Amino acid sequence: MILAFETSCDETAAAVVSDDGRVLSSVVSSQADLHARFGGVVPEVASRRHLELVAPVARAALESAVVPLERVERVAVTQGPGLIGALLVGISAAKALAWSKGLPLVPVDHLEGHVASLYLEPDPLDPPFTCLLASGGHTLLLAVRERGRSERLGSTLDDAAGEAFDKGARLLGLGYPGGAAIDRLAGEGDSDAFDFPVARVPGLDFSFSGLKTALLYATRDLGSEETERRKADLAASYQRAIVRALVSRLREAADATGLSRVAVVGGVAANSELRAALPDAKFVPLELCTDNAAMIASCARFVEALPYPRYLALDAYASLT
Ligand code: KG4
Ligand code: ZN
Repeated sequence: MILAFETSCDETAAAVVSDDGRVLSSVVSSQADLHARFGGVVPEVASRRHLELVAPVARAALESAVVPLERVERVAVTQGPGLIGALLVGISAAKALAWSKGLPLVPVDHLEGHVASLYLEPDPLDPPFTCLLASGGHTLLLAVRERGRSERLGSTLDDAAGEAFDKGARLLGLGYPGGAAIDRLAGEGDSDAFDFPVARVPGLDFSFSGLKTALLYATRDLGSEETERRKADLAASYQRAIVRALVSRLREAADATGLSRVAVVGGVAANSELRAALPDAKFVPLELCTDNAAMIASCARFVEALPYPRYLALDAYASLT
């Protein structure tokens, strides 16, 4: 039994996962409402909220799994990348719990955690495969040849795909976080209404910042009344551009690696148009796309544990290495 913590951004999450990859519980407490009025995550506000929620969320995970703490054999925690203060709350909680029970601790990379969401029961995917990781903080193409480790093929040069969704949503007055709101509104719009170009950069990288500027100019040209009236068309065209960029680069990456099976993970993998555009790709259920601790526990199965008490000096890292 693995008890995992995830506090890298604005979700306080804990989960209990068995060694063979069954999710016995996965509790996610989102702080999105708390940050909505600021239009984005405020790091210090996130840290304080994690501090309030981390113990009750862990308790809820154990209770809903009906697993007493005595049966937990390993504690796992997200070490980075993420907001440093937010990460430290999860790391401190995980260390304290592991130390008090004399258990080993497994530090997990958040991005490898997203990939490991694919290894959970009841329908695990076996490497090798080519993976697109698209979240609020990252957009990466990965060659995954073994569990727990992946090779980076390309990434975004500026905004992440989820960030592009969130910034687009903000321009359209849809609130934060905006990916799901654009997804919903796009269903009512015409994706051919506006031509939003996505920059093609060399290699297997992405660039989304120009797209956001194109949307900004379109809304300026339309004026606020027309923008409001054509909001669904704008959302549909904008979403189409992001999805096209992701799909074409993923296909190119699969050709380049020769790993023809493809998978998509991260918050943007919840997007309905992306899911429809890649009928052959492996997607995990929606609740495992956005940040959660079940994926962290899943990854911990393939990472070396630090034996008690060698983890007391373990530190968080904020950015990609
Ligand atoms: O993986 P995640 O929960 O957090 C990070 O590690 O960043 O991803 C959150 C991102 C946000 O940018 C959010 O807008 C986006 O995932 N997202 C979506 C959808 N649901 C969440 N983007 C597009 N369509 C969705 N349905
Ligand atoms: Zn994430």
